[in-house]
Amino acid sequence: MRIADIEGIGLDRLHAHSLSVGWPHRAEDWQFLRELGHGFVALDEIGRVLGSAMWFQYGPDFATIGMVITSPRLQTLGAAQWLMKRVFDKVPGRDLRLNATRAARRLYLSLDFQPEKTVYQCQGIAHVPTTASPAKACGDIRVLGESDILAAVEIDAAGFGVRRTVLIEKLFVHSSGYGLFDGKKLTAFALCRPFGRGHVVGPIVAQSDADAIAVVRPHVIDRSGSFLRVDTHMGNGEFAAFLSHAGLPVFDTVLTMSRGKRLADFAAGGSAMPKTFALASQTLG
Ligand SMILES: CC(C)(COP(=O)(O)OP(=O)(O)OC[C@H]1O[C@@H](n2cnc3c(N)ncnc32)[C@H](O)[C@@H]1OP(=O)(O)O)[C@@H](O)C(=O)NCCC(=O)NCCS
Repeated sequence: MRIADIEGIGLDRLHAHSLSVGWPHRAEDWQFLRELGHGFVALDEIGRVLGSAMWFQYGPDFATIGMVITSPRLQTLGAAQWLMKRVFDKVPGRDLRLNATRAARRLYLSLDFQPEKTVYQCQGIAHVPTTASPAKACGDIRVLGESDILAAVEIDAAGFGVRRTVLIEKLFVHSSGYGLFDGKKLTAFALCRPFGRGHVVGPIVAQSDADAIAVVRPHVIDRSGSFLRVDTHMGNGEFAAFLSHAGLPVFDTVLTMSRGKRLADFAAGGSAMPKTFALASQTLG
């Protein structure tokens, strides 16, 4: 086996690699991630991809890690451990965050990641809930455009704890977006883009469940009758109930883990601060 930069690897080979463990990523999803981050692959003697690991740097001190996959015939032989150590060499001193599948928890615990919060992967065929939302959001819903990017970067940073300018700019290019406005001020937003088997809504950033519902609802209407996914830390409450009523029950869970600063250390605090109601994706945080 040899290690190589993920940059030069054919998308069809990366796609076959994630399919080997049943992940839904399309070649386009790999391309999107590659444009945002960096990564390594482990190749066998005829160039087949047997392992992968990627990292995504947000600012000088923080990164997320994702797409950690070893193909079934290589598993439990230490390959993921080996790839992760190569990634650590590239992100020295950074606080790290990832979302661990059940299969990977032991690996990350052994690499000093601390368990934080459950992520609920909610998905299904979307339909507009017939039940009314208990609380009403204050403000007007509008379609987002390029002029809203800066405001979206700011409220995303307040929710996520780190400014993700390049990611949000890129997501705007690939997504449709709805925002909640108090006059001219953006107070909540949700972006929706093609991913895997259909579309994913994320990030969703809002101050309350009612506001989060107000910005996700138009996406549910737009995607009604087709496959939609939302990855959220919210296990209960009105937002979680809305997803379930919209045909997106919990399909699986993963665990957010961190190495270095804990999630709580990033929280800006205060009930009026924006919160991340849905991740951009499990890989991107
Ligand atoms: C999770 C995954 C990346 C682990 O890869 P791997 O190459 O098997 O991992 P390693 O061989 O380096 O093992 C690392 C540790 O996990 C343990 N481990 C690996 N597979 C295990 C299993 N099936 N059961 C119990 N422990 C296991 C190893 O013993 C080792 O533990 P140690 O550090 O205490 O010695 C791999 O199983 C995989 O790709 N799964 C599908 C995709 C996925 O879930 N990726 C994780 C995304 S967060």
